[in-house]
Amino acid sequence: MALPYLRLGVNIDHVATIRNARGGRHPDPVRAAHMATLAGADGITAHLREDRRHIRDEDIERLKRQILTPLNLEMAATEEMLEIAVRTRPHAACLVPEKRTERTTEGGLDVVGGHGHLAPVVDRLCREGIRVSLFVEPQVEALRAARDLGAPVVELHTGTYAEAGFAGDDEKAAEELDRLKHAAAFGASLGLEIHAGHGLTFDNVRPVAAIPQIVELNIGHFLVGEAVFMGLGEAVRAMRAAMDEGRALASA
Ligand code: PXP
Repeated sequence: MALPYLRLGVNIDHVATIRNARGGRHPDPVRAAHMATLAGADGITAHLREDRRHIRDEDIERLKRQILTPLNLEMAATEEMLEIAVRTRPHAACLVPEKRTERTTEGGLDVVGGHGHLAPVVDRLCREGIRVSLFVEPQVEALRAARDLGAPVVELHTGTYAEAGFAGDDEKAAEELDRLKHAAAFGASLGLEIHAGHGLTFDNVRPVAAIPQIVELNIGHFLVGEAVFMGLGEAVRAMRAAMDEGRALASA
């Protein structure tokens, strides 16, 4: 059975993290986005955080103006970010939870408890023609709540699966992979487009790429880290190859 094409969205946030460590302009995340695109990225993802710790407003404007591949803006569901999204008009907006004290996004959105807060943001973005995705835990209730909010896309949080693998807990990683498989199948049965991301690496991406309903992976930190050793273009090409290997296993 031929599966749908699996897109790779490259998250360039941590190029900006390195730039900001010295306060200048180098390395430029927009240049990284160009390189990732030339190496086969299907889209560029950037998270404009409330505290601007990596990507800044000017980066988002330049990415939108200069990059031809679709831009996926990760954002918290706040008035400020909504205004920026409406003004910038990215191809897609992925709503994520955000806490100032966290090092990275720590889990999916509270789509059940946060319905009242999220509904007007999802509605406005959809009306503006921006494809809305909700970053959620691989749970049935979260998927139902995402569908009820009217979002066309969910991005399944793969961080717990990845963390279990990093800790060498193969049993937990297998359980988490099962949760991702069930969530992807259930979400697709509700009519949602399924994406996934967080903590993916060359070693753990294949089983996720093999989940047939998933059509996009968003990957950042590992690729930027690996770029130090092999260059960004090579890291993107190697990730693409690993994704294709995983996908081929599922199609066999
Ligand atoms: N998807 C979402 C919603 C995220 O918040 C992040 C991290 O910014 C990623 C994907 C990429 O995660 P990582 O940097 O661990 O590859």
